[in-house]
Amino acid sequence: MPTLAVYPGSFDPLTNGHVDIITRGARLFDRIIVAMLVNAEKAPLFSVDERVEIARAVFKAHPKVEVDTFGGLLVDYVERRQAQVIVRGLRAVSDFEFEFQMALMNQRLNAKIETVFMMPAEQYTYISSRLIKEVFSLGGRVHGLVPELVEERLREKVSTTRTR
Ligand code: PNS
Repeated sequence: MPTLAVYPGSFDPLTNGHVDIITRGARLFDRIIVAMLVNAEKAPLFSVDERVEIARAVFKAHPKVEVDTFGGLLVDYVERRQAQVIVRGLRAVSDFEFEFQMALMNQRLNAKIETVFMMPAEQYTYISSRLIKEVFSLGGRVHGLVPELVEERLREKVSTTRTR
């Protein structure tokens, strides 16, 4: 049976750290679904539709990568998609506590689903979507830290909010 993995997250925006994990995951599993959480409570910079469109464009040449959205419990989505694995990236010890709690809670909710942690390449270990947004909005350079399409979209966002 092919192994299908789900890589869930907010991806607001997609960073090169995410891209690295997805690329590694695609080598390890038969297929990897990048699953974006539809969360009405947060005020994201990019809408879910924008995030999906960006990720689909970045991975258009990768047949093993699928981009989808989900709401509700992650384990229910994973089960519905008949996937066996949840992939999460671990950058530093600071990620560990929250990731450990989530993995154990998900294990309790559905013991058939395994969480697999993957480390990104060293040069991406300090990147987070939150820092990218902060640095970019204050005029800092994010080149090389996010896909070029994300950089373009960040520039468009800033110019449309400034002309409003
Ligand atoms: O990119 P993020 O914000 O770190 O991703 C967190 C995410 C989406 C993986 C997590 O919030 C999640 O799984 N949410 C869905 C609701 C759920 O299942 N919550 C219980 C997790 S233990």
